[in-house]
Amino acid sequence: MTKLDNIQKQDKEFLFQNYGDRLPVAFKKVEGPYLYDIDGKAYLDFLSGISVTNIGGDNSKFIAKMHEQIDSVIHTSNWFYNQEQIEAAKHISRLAFKGRTLFVNSGAEANEAAIKIARKHGMSKSEDCYHIITFTKSFHGRTFGAMSATGNPKIHTGFGPLVPGFIHLPFNDEKALKTAFETHNVCAVMTELIQGEGGINLVDEQFVKTLESYSKKHNALFIIDEVQTGIGRTGTHFVYQHFGIQPDLITLAKGLGNGIPIGAVHATGKTAALITPGTHGTTFGGNHLASAAADVVLNTISEPGFFRTCKPSLRISIFNFKSAEK
Ligand SMILES: Cc1ncc(COP(=O)(O)O)c(C=O)c1O
Repeated sequence: MTKLDNIQKQDKEFLFQNYGDRLPVAFKKVEGPYLYDIDGKAYLDFLSGISVTNIGGDNSKFIAKMHEQIDSVIHTSNWFYNQEQIEAAKHISRLAFKGRTLFVNSGAEANEAAIKIARKHGMSKSEDCYHIITFTKSFHGRTFGAMSATGNPKIHTGFGPLVPGFIHLPFNDEKALKTAFETHNVCAVMTELIQGEGGINLVDEQFVKTLESYSKKHNALFIIDEVQTGIGRTGTHFVYQHFGIQPDLITLAKGLGNGIPIGAVHATGKTAALITPGTHGTTFGGNHLASAAADVVLNTISEPGFFRTCKPSLRISIFNFKSAEK
C-alpha cells in the first residue's frame, strides 16, 4: 500500500465524505509557488487554496508575524479589547472606504452577518421590508442564510425549507431588477461582481450602476460579496473599485488571513450602527492570531507597486471574459 493509499483509506474511515473522492494527492510542504506532496513531488500551485494564500503560503513576513503572535497571545475573547483587530480594521477602512469592521471566521459567516444587518435595516423601515435580492449562479456560502441567498438549486437540494425572503434574479437583467423593486419591499441587494463558484460570470458595468442607483432610490443596502474577489485578486484591492461605486457593506474572507481562518463585514458607519450591543457576535471571530494574519496581509497588499506586475494581465483576462461571453 502506498502512503497515499493509506491516507485515502483513513479518510474514508474517519472523515465525513462531503468532499467525495478528493484529488489524489496529499501535500506536506510549501516553498514559493510550489507545493510538495508526501513523496516529495513538486506541483506548481495555481489554486492558492481556492483564492486564499494571496501573499504566498510561505511568505516570510507572514510566517514571522504568526510565530511572534503565537508566542504572545493567540486567543482571549471578544469580551476584551483587541489591538490586532483594530489594526486590521484600520487597513480595511483605508483600502476600501471609511467605516467599521466586524470580524468573523469565514465567508459564509460574513454573509450571514450581512443578511442579519440587511434584515435589521429593513425592519427599521417597516415589518414587511425583508426581501433581499440575490442572483442566479451566485454563491454566498453553506450556512442556512448564506445557502438560501445562493442562487443555485444544487446547493439547496435536500435542505428545504430555506430561509424565506430571498429573490433570485437573473444576473445582469435590468428589467427583472426593476420589476423586483417595484413588486417587493426590498431591504438589500447582495451580489458578487464576478461570480466565482457559478462559473466566472462578470457583471455588466451598466448593471452595477443600476444596482447602485436602485438600491439608493429604494433605500436598500447595497452589499458586495468580496469573499473571493477581495484582497487584491482582480488587480484592485476590492473588485467593486473597478466600477467607481460605493457599497454600503462588503464581505471578506479567503485571502484576508492567507490561510488563517478569518472573515469580515466592513460597512459604512451608519450601516454598522444597525448592529447594536448584544445583537451579534462570535467566540473566535478576529482573535489575536487571525487578526494579526489579516494585518500582515493587508499591509502587504498596501505596499507600493504590489499590483504593478499583475494588473495588466488581469485587465486582459477580464476583457477576455467579456468578449468570450458575446
Ligand atoms: C463569493 C463567495 N462567497 C462566500 C463564500 C463562502 O466562503 P467560506 O467557504 O469561507 O464560508 C465563497 C466560497 O467559495 C465565495 O466564493
